[in-house]
Amino acid sequence: MTLIEKSSKAVKKKCILVTGGAGFIGANFILNWILERDDQVVNLDKLTYAGNLQNLEKIEASNRYVFVKGDICDSGAIEKYLQQYQPFAIVHFAAESHVDRSIHSPEDFVRTNVLGTFTLLEVARNYWLNLDAKRKTEFRFLHVSTDEVYGSLDSDATSFTETTAYAPNSPYAASKAAADHLVRSYFKTYGLPTLTTHCGNNFGSFQFPEKLIPLVILNAQEGRQIPIYGDGSNVRDWIYVEDHCAGIRTVLESGVPGDVYNIGAGNERSNLEVVQTICDILDECLENAYISKHRSLIQFIKDRPGHDQRYSINSQKIENELGWRAKWNFEDGLYETVRWYLQNQEWVNNIKNGSYLKWLEKNYTEREV
Ligand code: NAD
Ligand code: DAU
Repeated sequence: MTLIEKSSKAVKKKCILVTGGAGFIGANFILNWILERDDQVVNLDKLTYAGNLQNLEKIEASNRYVFVKGDICDSGAIEKYLQQYQPFAIVHFAAESHVDRSIHSPEDFVRTNVLGTFTLLEVARNYWLNLDAKRKTEFRFLHVSTDEVYGSLDSDATSFTETTAYAPNSPYAASKAAADHLVRSYFKTYGLPTLTTHCGNNFGSFQFPEKLIPLVILNAQEGRQIPIYGDGSNVRDWIYVEDHCAGIRTVLESGVPGDVYNIGAGNERSNLEVVQTICDILDECLENAYISKHRSLIQFIKDRPGHDQRYSINSQKIENELGWRAKWNFEDGLYETVRWYLQNQEWVNNIKNGSYLKWLEKNYTEREV
């Protein structure tokens, strides 16, 4: 089936427009949405290196799912799809998402994350203004942001709340912060019913293996070096992707327009702890591997410039006001994730056959200690 045929499927029910739905979190969100809700989904994605339609294979034939190839910087295309599908909400995931890539090529991040979000907001505002009163009240623009906009915490500092001052340290974080401010301004100035969520490090199925957890699983499985930046003491606050997606659904359906919600699962772990836990799971799952102790593959390499030391999320607001709570414990989620990568070799190989290997070579050659 060609992309054009896919986009010509009729959407008659109530529908949401998801941007960046072929990426890691967007794909999980759409798969869960189709399971949990009756509304239809239109997935608008540019299919950059991180977009992979194989992530959505399971629902490809569903008459509740439509894919359209498009760039969030292209106002004409977005306008056309909003008019065609008349969504009651936009859930905005599309972004350049990898911090290391933002250090190599910050321009792409400003283009998609800042200019793209601005373009989407502007087209959404015009669309929303022309809806009838009932649909205008119902409409939501949900912007998926990150905890990285709050900067880095010392080990004894209190967790990020929704009112923590912004202090982004990487071009990625700065571009997301700029997008957040634009979203806020569209609520304050024009009354567009926006919602913003800030989440920490996600993990789970379909994550592109440039990110720590899948990178470690795949390197270790092949008996290759496991690169840890610096001394491995940097702390991230991890969340299983299904919990994040459930949090976004909750905010979309019950959040107060104009409000901001942090989404976290209380799983602070140092990078070294995370890597060692993956190695131990692999020791158990790969009994016949030629390496019995995967921890022996760990190598400490040159640190990431501007590397944030610690993230920690306070999610009391979403828990107390909207009743959402993470369900997965970190170790169970990690076990599930390792199993998923081991069992989905075809997905992995398809990524490895692309330009991904060139990126790995570039990033890690420059980082040798
Ligand atoms: P990802 O890199 O896996 O996927 C991004 C998707 O956006 C891809 O499908 C890509 O093709 C698409 N895209 C990129 N540029 C586009 C453009 N100009 N127009 C249309 N589509 C475009 O990202 P992810 O990890 O799934 O993250 C999704 C969102 O969640 C991002 O906004 C990210 O900042 C945010 N977030 C991610 C995490 C995390 O741990 N991964 C945590 C908190 C927030
Ligand atoms: O906190 C939320 C953010 O989490 C999201 O907004 C980003 O989109 C997402 O990419 C993620 O950013 P991080 O930089 O924290 O994720 P990454 O997986 O790249 O790195 C996690 C930690 O592991 C970080 O401290 C850097 C370290 N690291 C990473 C890689 C790829 C290593 O030590 N070695 C590596 O090879």
